[in-house]
Amino acid sequence: MKLKVGVIGTGRRGKVHLRQLAKQQNVEVPAICDILPNVAKEAAKITESRPYLDYREMLDKEELDAVVVATPAPVHADPTILALENGIAVMCEKPLAWSLRDALRIVDAASKTGQICETGYQWRHNPLLSVASERLGESGIALIRGTWYHTVPLVESIRDVSTGGGQIFDQSTHIIDLARLFAGDVTSLYAAYTLNARSRADFDNYDNWDGYAVTMKYASGAVGSFGSTYALFLEHGEPVTLDIIGAGILIKILGEKVIVVSPEGREELGANTKGFTVQSDIIGDFVKAVATQNRSLVKSPPADSVKSLATTIAANLSAKTGEIVSLTELMDRARSGEELPAI
Ligand SMILES: NC(=O)c1ccc[n+]([C@@H]2O[C@H](COP(=O)([O-])OP(=O)(O)OC[C@H]3O[C@@H](n4cnc5c(N)ncnc54)[C@H](O)[C@@H]3O)[C@@H](O)[C@H]2O)c1
Repeated sequence: MKLKVGVIGTGRRGKVHLRQLAKQQNVEVPAICDILPNVAKEAAKITESRPYLDYREMLDKEELDAVVVATPAPVHADPTILALENGIAVMCEKPLAWSLRDALRIVDAASKTGQICETGYQWRHNPLLSVASERLGESGIALIRGTWYHTVPLVESIRDVSTGGGQIFDQSTHIIDLARLFAGDVTSLYAAYTLNARSRADFDNYDNWDGYAVTMKYASGAVGSFGSTYALFLEHGEPVTLDIIGAGILIKILGEKVIVVSPEGREELGANTKGFTVQSDIIGDFVKAVATQNRSLVKSPPADSVKSLATTIAANLSAKTGEIVSLTELMDRARSGEELPAI
């Protein structure tokens, strides 16, 4: 019998997931949902699905095994929790939620229901990462350094910081999350942001920063530094980078490419491996995980991704207050019921 998967939120990202779901064997997409009728109607054609305008009605009427949630971050928690409570597995896009309070509600629902729940950090599904970890071996990590250069976001809701959360929250969250996979939990950080190259008058709704710098300390003893921007232009060609430096070894993660620099030389891992794309494998792994209940295929459960969310919310807080933020104290505040939104 085919796995029945629904999609909630069929904008840019939801359609990417729909196309990947259409390629999976043993998967059908009986229903999709978007609040915009035209968007729902168009998306439904991709997988010949029944379109809904309300996810509650879809979850009520359809018998689904899993849903993919690809709504904007402020609309992640409610559909994810309702689906989990209906016995449905969920792959919800990154970042886990808009606020730490909502993120903890998801963590709680995933734990209580025992359903498979994955956050959309697709880079974690790159099989080369485990090879990179083996190469690092027992070495401690001295330094993590990440960069993500972008232009003023084309999507209006992301361009405005009050709905997009800013570059660190929305985009660099991928490399901040990936860095945690190697260096472990962040203990404290300091961030400084600026709007100094662009101007608010340059673009409609450009109420945002354009330069972001964050310094982090990890429980493992590593230190990290992340720099990102909205000041560049489209197709500048500079790759997203994550450098991980151990004793006599540099691991460079450049999107799907992983390079190891050691005294033996410079080696591109998996250069001969064909067919892998991080974009497709999160959906492939998720549907396999649901079909087989093999939880090792879930690379980013909410209990872990909440820590990446907390790190980016801490960075936004630090940039606004000018203070060093302790992650333990921030999580304690969230657990005691404070909302702690992205902005
Ligand atoms: N993992 C990645 O690399 C990646 C890339 C892009 C976007 N994303 C994430 O995907 C999510 C969606 O981003 P996007 O770029 O597709 O945005 P988008 O605005 O293009 O699409 C979001 C869609 O959700 C719909 N929506 C809003 N509220 C809804 C509701 N209550 N019920 C049903 N549908 C609703 C909107 O109408 C819209 O069509 C965000 O969380 C974003 O961070 C992840």
